[in-house]
Amino acid sequence: MVGNIAALDRVLTLELARVTERTAVAAARLRGRGDEVTADQVAVDAMRKELNALDIDGTVVIGEGERDEAPMLYIGEKVGTTSGPKVDIALDPLEGTTLTAKAMPNALAVIALAEGGSLLHAPDVYMDKIAIGGGYEKGLVDLDRSPAENLKALAEAKGVKISDLTACILDRPRHAKLIEETRETGASISLISDGDVAGVINTTNTDETGIDIYMGIGGAPEGVLAAAALRCIGGQMQGRLVTSSAEQRERALKMGIEDFDRKYSMEEMASGDVLFAATGVTDGSMLDGVAFNGKKVVTDTVVMRSSTGTVRWIKAVHADDSKFH
Ligand code: FBP
Repeated sequence: MVGNIAALDRVLTLELARVTERTAVAAARLRGRGDEVTADQVAVDAMRKELNALDIDGTVVIGEGERDEAPMLYIGEKVGTTSGPKVDIALDPLEGTTLTAKAMPNALAVIALAEGGSLLHAPDVYMDKIAIGGGYEKGLVDLDRSPAENLKALAEAKGVKISDLTACILDRPRHAKLIEETRETGASISLISDGDVAGVINTTNTDETGIDIYMGIGGAPEGVLAAAALRCIGGQMQGRLVTSSAEQRERALKMGIEDFDRKYSMEEMASGDVLFAATGVTDGSMLDGVAFNGKKVVTDTVVMRSSTGTVRWIKAVHADDSKFH
């Protein structure tokens, strides 16, 4: 059956949840084993197997790397049975390999699916990002403004003092200036060791996460995944690629990117209809990690559709753990 994503996305929403559930369970068995490589590999294997069983004509546009460096789920790989809608897929089977290896919070299995041609084909380089939750005037924060200007605008819009705000920033030496400038404003900073997809999404639920704004440089693929999530859940985000070598710019060029300094809006990174799913691998601010209870396996997943803005939280109890092997 060949169809279009709008007609099928209700069904696909649940199917996608199954994909990230199974991926997360596979990765969760490697929690705390100090082995990033194997944790990532089992997640990739599981996600690929589940994706290939879906009735979609899918193309991986954000994947594990380029064809010559990633044997599976590489950029350009076709997945699915082909008897279904043409879709672009952005995936990160294990977002937070180090978090998983160290059994630290916020590792996720993540996937976004969109109408063919509607996700930014971002190379595996860095991206400068800024994100806030929904309900604010468009353009309230901007990558081209200073942290002080952005925090001031956000505080005014929220009707609070800047010192009441918390910014989420990846704890990296490259952020020394950003951290210093943010602290000078009086805002608090929640430093994360990894996992900026969750960092961005956390801005959409400040009451629970305490995060008002995400700022800083992380992976470009993770940027597109986060933009896909925000398209569904509501929020604002901008991203700009950070290329540091001729080789990286060459890769960007191959993906059709000619203006390396372009600032992408959330809608430019993820346009059209988008579905997004994430399952917790380790416990996190947004999702619980996989729990193994005797023969039962419990997973916690969020699935979202941009066309309706519906966000579903799915706590699944899988009766028989052997079905996952
Ligand atoms: P991995 O799961 O691929 O290790 O990515 C984790 C992560 O923290 C991302 O969330 C983030 O975008 C990126 O790494 C930041 O890259 P770096 O560790 O090089 O600063």
